[in-house]
Amino acid sequence: MPHTASVKLDDKEFPLPVMQGSEGELAIDTRKLRTETGYICYDQGYGNTGSCESKVTFLDGDNGILRYRGYPIEQLAEKSDFVETAYLVIYGELPTPAQRKAFGLLLRQNAAVETQMQRIFEGFPVEAPPMAMLTSIVASMASHHSELATNNFEKDLQNFDLAAAMAISKTRTIAAMIYRYQKGKPYIYPKQDLPFCENFLHMMFSEPYKEYIAEPEVARALNLLLLLHADHEQNCSTSTVRTVGSSAANLFTSIAAGICALSGPLHGGANGAVLQMLQTIHDEGDDGTRFIAAAKSGSKSNRLMGFGHAVYRNFDPRARIIGKAAEDVLKKLGIKDPLLDIARNLEQATLKDDYFVSRKLYPNVDFYSGIIMRALGIPTNMFTVLFAVGRSPGWIANWHEVASNAKGRIYRPRQIYVGHTKRDYVPIDQRA
Ligand code: CMC
Repeated sequence: MPHTASVKLDDKEFPLPVMQGSEGELAIDTRKLRTETGYICYDQGYGNTGSCESKVTFLDGDNGILRYRGYPIEQLAEKSDFVETAYLVIYGELPTPAQRKAFGLLLRQNAAVETQMQRIFEGFPVEAPPMAMLTSIVASMASHHSELATNNFEKDLQNFDLAAAMAISKTRTIAAMIYRYQKGKPYIYPKQDLPFCENFLHMMFSEPYKEYIAEPEVARALNLLLLLHADHEQNCSTSTVRTVGSSAANLFTSIAAGICALSGPLHGGANGAVLQMLQTIHDEGDDGTRFIAAAKSGSKSNRLMGFGHAVYRNFDPRARIIGKAAEDVLKKLGIKDPLLDIARNLEQATLKDDYFVSRKLYPNVDFYSGIIMRALGIPTNMFTVLFAVGRSPGWIANWHEVASNAKGRIYRPRQIYVGHTKRDYVPIDQRA
């Protein structure tokens, strides 16, 4: 690795330090470039900009590698569950049995949504988009638990364990309540004795006199789904959480901002769009040819949903795991879903199509996740809400890195201004 780099402007050279990450990732440290040269780095969308140093997740998009805290996603998917992985992502190590027990207890003790907070739901139209509801209701946690949300890093870090447990556990309960609210059904309260995912399914699907008992395959599939979404490096929503957190905003507010970012169809909203696409192909009796042809037009609105990724130039490792899991779950539950066949055909067709091959566009995590959620009985408009529950540990871990970095600065990128140059104000009666 070179130890120095430089920028040459005309015949003057400015040395720049070089950085190396623990997996050999290289960067040129340009923090002093502007003060020394007057130039900034231009990188629209930050595709080539390292905005932080992080110890949470390693992602190598060229080789399809994803690791949480050093552990390969494939091993965690096979051997861990969502709560254990959440602990790992947040605290950096796999928990000891005692730590796992204490963490589980804290999640159970902080699962319920307070009566006053429940009243917020009634302010929403029943047909409100679930992600819009989730954003507002999670943001309201900063007011209902203001002692944990002081907007002072030192104080908020002292209460971090409790705030983190609430952020995961209550977000899950809020998600289930949104589902019930939209169905016009009474809320089902969390049960202390149920594990995290079983409790989630109970709060969604139990009825006042008929308790839903999750099949082990169903609980396992939900665990896998949430675990695979637990973190994903500096994606749009996580960068948003870090940006908002860098202003010393508390954990709940920062997470609510992350949920806003996740709601967009190019990010978390893609999972619902995939299922709609597969359903349309099915309803039209098509084999996907029309969608593939439209996607190749280059228009953003016609993209093949569930394909491509901002950083993977190889198979998204999560898509491999989830594609296989979708088949297993459907088999175990005895469900024959024609959408899975359509998805497989679409994947095969794109693997032979030069447009997709040359651009290295492969299925991403969202391509098969919708099929699993559908098999679990979760409606399409709730898919991104489940993604948000799964991503909460990653947002929490990234907020914690920002809050505990004594040398951290507020996130404040620069720009190249391309608007009008200076001009004088014209009174309204003199304007054409
Ligand atoms: N369908 C058709 N063409 C595509 C697609 C797609 N899904 N994705 C990218 N392209 C094209 C793109 O138009 C560009 O073409 P050209 O070189 O001719 O201009 C080329 O492929 C390279 O695109 P890119 O620079 O890799 O894409 P990007 O970084 O701007 O966007 C993306 C990444 C995920 C927003 C995009 O691939 C996309 O819109 N995919 C569909 C939505 C989707 O599935 N999103 C979920 C992402 S995974 C969940 C998450 O982590 O948020």
